[in-house]
Amino acid sequence: MSTKYVNAIISETQGDESLPILEGTMGAPAVDIQTLYARHGLLAYDPGFRSTASCKSAITFVDGDAGVLLYRGYPIEELAQHSSFLEVAYLLVYGELPDPKEMAAFQSAIHQHNLLHEQVLYFYRGFRRDAHPMAVMIGVVGALSAFYHDVINISNQQQRELAAIRLIAKMPTIAAACYTYSIGRPQRYPNNGLDYAANFIQMLFGVPNSEMVVNSVVARALDRILILHADHEQNASTSTVRLAASSGANPFACVAAGIASLWGPAHGGANEAVLKMLMEIGSPENIPKAIARAKDKNDPFRLMGFGHRIYKNFDPRSRVIQESAREVLHHLGIDDPLLEIAVKLEEIALQDEYFIERKLYPNVDFYSGILLRAMGLPMNMFTAIFAVARTAGWVSHWLELHQETHGIDRPRQLYVGQPRRSYPSKVPA
Ligand code: SDX
Repeated sequence: MSTKYVNAIISETQGDESLPILEGTMGAPAVDIQTLYARHGLLAYDPGFRSTASCKSAITFVDGDAGVLLYRGYPIEELAQHSSFLEVAYLLVYGELPDPKEMAAFQSAIHQHNLLHEQVLYFYRGFRRDAHPMAVMIGVVGALSAFYHDVINISNQQQRELAAIRLIAKMPTIAAACYTYSIGRPQRYPNNGLDYAANFIQMLFGVPNSEMVVNSVVARALDRILILHADHEQNASTSTVRLAASSGANPFACVAAGIASLWGPAHGGANEAVLKMLMEIGSPENIPKAIARAKDKNDPFRLMGFGHRIYKNFDPRSRVIQESAREVLHHLGIDDPLLEIAVKLEEIALQDEYFIERKLYPNVDFYSGILLRAMGLPMNMFTAIFAVARTAGWVSHWLELHQETHGIDRPRQLYVGQPRRSYPSKVPA
């Protein structure tokens, strides 16, 4: 398409009042192109959604140039410092911080729903013990659809909220069971005397035949990880949940779809990939070689935990996680050589012209693996922890979607295949 033609379209559509500019409360305004095709016979082409606002949302705001992340208006750093994951989950779901009574009621609902139906545990036995926990989570969370028929009426607000609570409540139990099943340890039940993160830890690492005192520094660090990963506006997995939900699918199936999307190494799977990369680098003197490989277009190797579609500045979450990682390593007396490699790698990359030009900074996944490893989690559980946290965001977006009325999401395409042709009388040899 020539520039002249593009300019003609721009001037033709500019005076079109059916293509208004929509202003949000913050961030870039958006051209409303909903009637573009009907009025001008044109589609908008934006693979990767680099310039597409797929919906209106009031949950999370990211300013990638400034390195700002807000949940319902509150800066992530303040929430990480002062809040708890459960309070943040409430904030994401309901839009405001809870008062003590609301918090107590929410906590009690989570306690009421954190057990798994005993038959759900039979599903685990169908999986190989060495299956990746994310594979098991996709299956088990999807299978919850078969247990909660009462949420099938998704036009009922109360039932929708109950489904959201069930998912937030059960996800740590499901993730912990993925781990205990893989090592053949009997699963502990949830302990309602503990907060969300501490309870998760006792299910991950406790055994049913003895007491376990959860380390409060480790529990606080896990809680912080959950807060930092709880939502991130229209990322790939959240968009997947919203797309699945737009057809009216039940929430457990939608969240299973979100888990599948999160698993990829370009998304939530990066935290596992970062640790593998740091182990492969092995020592600080090998960093220049790794940097050179990451810059080589003929080499598929990329610096995992670096770069972001939206952040062209520091991911504010990465700073908090780095701080938390140092705190936990110090508290537990662990001297992890991978932290030294990570810090050096960051330092070298941030001074390299390639990374500076492309505005590639450490993202949320860069230091989270080091922290999770210090807590005793195996690498293949890292993305499952991310999924537990992101469930709060997924269900908030699922609830928000059901308050809109735009119907099923149905992207169009720019067809580049064969034009119409007739079936040959004889198929060529
Ligand atoms: C998450 O979106 C979210 O919100 C996600 C998330 C959330 O909370 O939900 O924040 C969580 O998924 C974090 C991202 C985790 N992924 C990784 O750490 C994997 C490594 N990073 C990249 O693969 C990449 O940076 C992405 C996938 C994160 C972003 O991809 P984009 O936006 O498509 O970036 P791009 O391909 O346009 O890159 C621009 C340039 C390219 O070079 P040129 O072709 O212009 O020469 O930067 C290069 C890329 O090759 N580049 C990298 C790089 N990331 C981008 N080069 C080396 N190493 C990298 N990591």
